[in-house]
Amino acid sequence: MKRPKITVVGAGNVGGSTAQRLAEKDAYDVVLVDIAEGVPQGKALDISQAGPVCGYSTRVIGTNGYVETAGSSVAVITSGIPRKPGMSRDELLATNAKIVKSVVSELVSRSPDIILILVTNPLDAMVHVARRVSGLSKSRVIGMGGILDSARMRSFIAAELNVPGPDVEAMVLGGHGDTMVPLPRYTTVKGKPISSLMSKDKLDAIIKRTRDGGAEIVGLLKTGSAFYAPSASVVDMVEAIHKDQKRVLPCSVLCEGEYGLKDVIVGVPVRIGRGGMEQVVEYELTVEERAALEASANAVRELCAAVDRLMASV
Ligand code: NAI
Ligand code: 2OP
Repeated sequence: MKRPKITVVGAGNVGGSTAQRLAEKDAYDVVLVDIAEGVPQGKALDISQAGPVCGYSTRVIGTNGYVETAGSSVAVITSGIPRKPGMSRDELLATNAKIVKSVVSELVSRSPDIILILVTNPLDAMVHVARRVSGLSKSRVIGMGGILDSARMRSFIAAELNVPGPDVEAMVLGGHGDTMVPLPRYTTVKGKPISSLMSKDKLDAIIKRTRDGGAEIVGLLKTGSAFYAPSASVVDMVEAIHKDQKRVLPCSVLCEGEYGLKDVIVGVPVRIGRGGMEQVVEYELTVEERAALEASANAVRELCAAVDRLMASV
């Protein structure tokens, strides 16, 4: 049976790990693209050779071009530079905008019905670039940030309460950056509100650690940023699309009035299924939560205006 083709652009840490996780699902053909000669080819071979041991027969192709990507149902874009210690995600703007622009053109010209999952930082601004360049509908251009931020919060809570991570539900909205908006009111353990399980001080410390979660790992690794949890989060999205799961996940999408936000890309809960982002799901928010989301959206707006100026000048 013909399998859906998933292209992963960028065969670095996130891209390589994403290709491996996708191969292990034994449900897709995977194409891994990078400009670095030999790297996508080498990683594709390595992942293929793990198949007989791990029990999958996924076809994985590594390439420096785009011919092999034709007919992809989904592309995961991880190409770009990552942060170094002390750098913010926003400092990657100019370099990564150019990379994302060229990659998106290549992909869409060969796979007009593709769904794009953006990973490259600064995430929300890269979703904006991809939308502009591709002309695809908002349901087909989705950023991965909130699933990762929520996973970090869930894992910190699980460790603190000594409970299984999957039992913890959390929702982090807003831009994937310093202004992200963790929502303690929508954080539960097996349905129990987090406020009944943990002191406010402990929860505040976890919220701060979640906001700084990416930088904490950059500081430890020193030569790059996180990739295991990011690739797991991406694969959750790919599976939700291909299995038409209709799961509600926090992702970066264009808001057109939802949450009172107009024409801005920001992380909100969305229903993911075969059509990509099928609906923005509106949670009831307090005045404070709404204000925090608006402030985060305004920070993304500034970044998108900066990227528009940069793109106009190249
Ligand atoms: P990496 O440096 O390991 O890999 C990036 C790869 O992109 C390199 O192999 C490089 O050769 C390739 N590349 C550069 N220009 C290219 C082009 N024009 N076409 C094809 N490939 C190209 O970086 P890593 O750790 O994989 O991170 C990738 C990006 O994802 C960074 O911008 C990082 O900040 C971001 N990121 C975002 C997350 C999120 O939650 N949205 C989580 C983790 C990383
Ligand atoms: C992270 O949060 C680098 O955005 C990436 O780890």
